[in-house]
Formats: sequence, structure tokens, C-alpha cells
Amino acid sequence: MKINRVYALYFSPAGATRQLATKLAKALADCCEAPMEVIDITKPADREETHAFAEGDLVICGSPTYAGKLPNKLLPYWKESLTGNGALAVALVTFGNRAYDNSLAELNACLTADGFHVVGAAAFACRHVFSDTLAAERPDKDDISELAVFGATVATRVVMASEPPAPPEVPGDAAAPYYVPKGLDGEPKNFLKAKPKTSDACIQCGVCAAMCPMGSIDPNDVTSVPGICIKCHACVRECPVNAKYFDDEAFLSHKAMLERDFQRRAKNEWFT
Ligand SMILES: Cc1cc2nc3c(=O)[nH]c(=O)nc-3n(C[C@H](O)[C@H](O)[C@H](O)COP(=O)(O)O)c2cc1C
Ligand code: SF4
Ligand code: SF4
Repeated sequence: MKINRVYALYFSPAGATRQLATKLAKALADCCEAPMEVIDITKPADREETHAFAEGDLVICGSPTYAGKLPNKLLPYWKESLTGNGALAVALVTFGNRAYDNSLAELNACLTADGFHVVGAAAFACRHVFSDTLAAERPDKDDISELAVFGATVATRVVMASEPPAPPEVPGDAAAPYYVPKGLDGEPKNFLKAKPKTSDACIQCGVCAAMCPMGSIDPNDVTSVPGICIKCHACVRECPVNAKYFDDEAFLSHKAMLERDFQRRAKNEWFT
């Protein structure tokens, strides 16, 4: 099949999904000798636009895993703002060294319902945004090598085919409930209402307010978070003086449990 354009389309508050989606799109664009375009849907304004694709397009769609599924606040976007029109798509999720559970199945189902032909699906382990020790250095060079193998497999399937190749079998259940976070004591922990705090180190640079994918931090008073917080940690990770932090006890117990129980190297998986 002739590919006219390759897109990297991603939601990536803390940057790991962006890194992998753009790398994969670039590799596929090179293999297909096609131009590449980026559609970043991380900021609220980015999600106001809808996108309609066409046959000959190949769209790498990336999302992090939140509670074993797609971030729930992004579901309306994945369901309503994209029209595949027979374009090819690759579903790519990242996850923070615990598990991707059902996020890849959910992304695959959304893209298929949008009218894409999904030709590949992959789940890659990355730094867990909650922690400084969980998969802290990932994606590393082994991950990038595996991404290259996945990309080459997808490119070969696409270039050799005259019709869109059969969709991959993706494990998981798109309709499954969200993973329930547990604490150190093994009991469920609810931190849905937790919001980041701001220490006296804050230099009022405004980076956190500009980065928040929900537009929830007041730019005139960054200590105030009047909007919804999805715990994405963009504000924590991007603050130049480490002034943002979470002190919610249920959240900290879940983070400690992850750091105690999920230190092994989680495997990347891909399906074509
Ligand atoms: C609210 C929330 C829930 C998460 N749930 C999971 C999970 O269920 N399993 C997992 O392994 N990682 C989980 N993570 C970690 C992210 O999937 C991981 O850090 C991802 O690479 C972040 O992507 P980004 O850097 O593009 O924002 C969660 C992160 C957040 C913010
Ligand atoms: S306030 Fe919440 S949603 Fe906004 S950047 Fe910080 S962690 Fe993410
Ligand atoms: S990014 Fe950090 S220093 Fe800058 S305004 Fe936000 S909390 Fe303050």
C-alpha cells in the first residue's frame, strides 16, 4: 500500500508517550518515504479541533495508561473527534511498569469505531510519573530497539500489502472497569479528589499552569487548582524548582505500594 503521510497523534502530559509516538512515526515515515506530521492533543486548546483522515494516511495514536485504561477525561476525544475514513492506524499505549491491563484494547476499540484500519498495537513501559524510582530510566536503549523492531514489522506489513492488513489480536477488554489502586496495606485507596500543593520554593514562572492538560491551574495564582486534576504529574515533573507535590495520604500509600511491589522490569508487548 502507498502511504502518503504519517501522523504522530498523542496525549502526553509528562512526555514519555510523545517520545515514543514521534520516534515510531518518524521511523515509519522514513520506511514509507512519506512526510510526517505531529498532532499533539495534550493541551485543552489542542482538543478543540477535530481531525478527518483519508486512505493513504498512517496515524500513530499514543496515550498513557491511567488506572488500566485510557485516561477517562480523554475518552470523549478518542470517541468523537477523529474520523478515520479508512486510514491506517497504530495504537500505542505507555504504562508505568505496573501493567497496561485494558488500555490498549480500549484504544484499539476506539480507533476501529472511528473508522481506522488498525494495523499494529503496542504497549511500552515508561517511567511511572508518580515515582522517581519506577522504571525511572525508561524508555531506554533496549526499549528504543524494540520500538524499531515493531516499526519495521508494521512497515513491512503495510508496504507489502495491496489491501489493509488484517487487524491484530489485542489482549484485554475495552469494556472492563478501571483498575482500583491499592495502598501498602493492600486496601483500595481513593485519591480522585487529590490536587497538587505548592511549596514556598515557587518562583511564579507559570510553567505549571501552561503545562496542565486540563487547564486547571490558575495562572494568576498557581497555588490554586480550581479545575479537575487527573494526577498526570505534568506540573510536578516540569516545575523548574520542584515546588509542586502531592501530600494526599491515600495517593502516597499507593505510590509506596507500587515502589515496593513493581520494581521488576515490565515487558513491552506488540501485536501485528
Ligand atoms: C492517574 C494515573 C494512573 C496511572 N495508572 C497506571 C496503571 O494503571 N498502570 C501503569 O503501569 N502505569 C500507570 N500510570 C503511569 C503512566 O501510564 C506512565 O507514567 C505513562 O508513561 C505516562 O505518560 P506520559 O509521560 O506521556 O504522560 C498512571 C499514571 C497516572 C497519572
Ligand atoms: S494540576 Fe493535576 S492535571 Fe494539572 S498538571 Fe498538575 S497533576 Fe496534571
Ligand atoms: S512551575 Fe513551579 S515555580 Fe513555576 S509557577 Fe508552577 S509551581 Fe511555581
